[in-house]
Amino acid sequence: MRHHSKRCNLRLMTRFVMQLIAASLMAACGGGAADGDVARGQQVFSEHCVACHSVSSEVVIVGPSLAGVATRAAANRDNLQPRQVLRRAILSPQAEIVEGFADLMPPDFERRLVEADLEALLSYLMTLE
Ligand code: HEC
Repeated sequence: MRHHSKRCNLRLMTRFVMQLIAASLMAACGGGAADGDVARGQQVFSEHCVACHSVSSEVVIVGPSLAGVATRAAANRDNLQPRQVLRRAILSPQAEIVEGFADLMPPDFERRLVEADLEALLSYLMTLE
């Protein structure tokens, strides 16, 4: 009897340890996916945005430099999260025109970017603090 319960405990312990390992593996993979997101976002940026936007504060092309854009988005006065401000700036550029610039941002990114690429792009832009 005693012997039997010990084995049960061992089996429970093993299961517990396996679950711990699985959980930490998932956490590790989650972190990896987030990094991948930023890399993918940078790629999306270079495909769709670099023609008009630099990420260096000294270089202005057609649109404003996006250096520090995450910080500017955080200071937005419309009660939105920075990520939402950036999403709106991309999907509805007419909603808020940056002072000193013309309304030249293409209005059709909603159609041209799949959701996963848009999310990756937002993750990348959020690193531009
Ligand atoms: C054809 C040129 C052009 C392209 C391509 C373009 N933009 Fe823009 N963008 C502009 C212009 C011009 C403005 C300023 C006018 C305005 O606010 O709409 C702007 C404004 C912005 C702003 C607001 C900046 C701020 O400081 O608040 C963000 C964010 C932005 N663009 C992101 C992007 C992203 C991301 C892409 C690629 C998916 C992109 N833009 C592609 C021209 C462009």
